[in-house]
Amino acid sequence: MQISPSILSADFARLAEEAAAVPNADWLHVDVMDNHFVPNLTLGLPIVEALLKATSTPIDCHLMIEDPDRWAPAYAEAGAGSVTVHAEAAKAPVRTLRQIRSLGARAGFALNPATDVAPYEDLLGEIDMLLLMTVEPGFGGQRFLDVVLPKIRRARELVKRHGGEVWIQVDGGVAADTIERCAEAGADVFVAGSAVYGAADPRAAVDRLRELAEGAPRPGGAI
Ligand code: DX5
Ligand code: ZN
Repeated sequence: MQISPSILSADFARLAEEAAAVPNADWLHVDVMDNHFVPNLTLGLPIVEALLKATSTPIDCHLMIEDPDRWAPAYAEAGAGSVTVHAEAAKAPVRTLRQIRSLGARAGFALNPATDVAPYEDLLGEIDMLLLMTVEPGFGGQRFLDVVLPKIRRARELVKRHGGEVWIQVDGGVAADTIERCAEAGADVFVAGSAVYGAADPRAAVDRLRELAEGAPRPGGAI
C-alpha cells in the first residue's frame, strides 16, 4: 500500500517545504496539465526538474496533456521515478510506454472514469502502473466517483490473470472516507491531494490514509 500526496493542493510558492512536510510519503504526485487535455494549467518540466533537486522522495508525474508521446520521455529523462500518460491522449502508447521504461522510469497508463480497461488487457505487459481516475481529471477537491469501483475490481482481476506486477493507482477524491473502498476493490497506490495538504498535519494525514488502506479487506474478501 503506497501513498502519493498530490502537490496540486500544496502551496506552489513553497514546493520544497511542502515536499518535506510528507517525509513518510512513498511518492510525490505531480499533476502536469496543459489547458487542452484538461481545462486547467499547472506546471511543466522546469518545475519538475527543480522539485527533483529539492526532494529525495520519488516523483510520480501524471501527465494530463495532449501529445504525451512527444513530451513524456523528457520527464523520465529528467529523473521522475514514474511517468503516467493518458489512454485518451496517447496516439502511440506502446512506443511511449517502452520509451519511458527504457529511460529508467516506471511506465504508467491512466484511464478517465468513463474509459474501460478491457481494451488495454494486451498492454498490461508494457505497464508498471494503471491509474484509474476516480474524478474527471483537471482539479483537486472533487467528489469521489463511486461509479469507478467496479472497474477497479475488473482491473485487479485482469492484472491477477495476467500474472505481472502492475500497480493499480487511484486518483481523485481519495480521503479517509473513500480509501478503504478503493483498497478493497484492488487499488494499491493512493493519490491524495486535499486530504493531505488540506489537513492541519499533512504527515499525520499520510499515516492515517496508509493505516486505513492497510486495514481494509483485500480484494476477494480475505484480510
Ligand atoms: C486531478 C488530479 C489529482 C488531484 C487530486 O485531476 O489528477 O491528482 O490532485 O486531488 P484530490 O485528492 O483533492 O481529489
Ligand atoms: Zn493526478
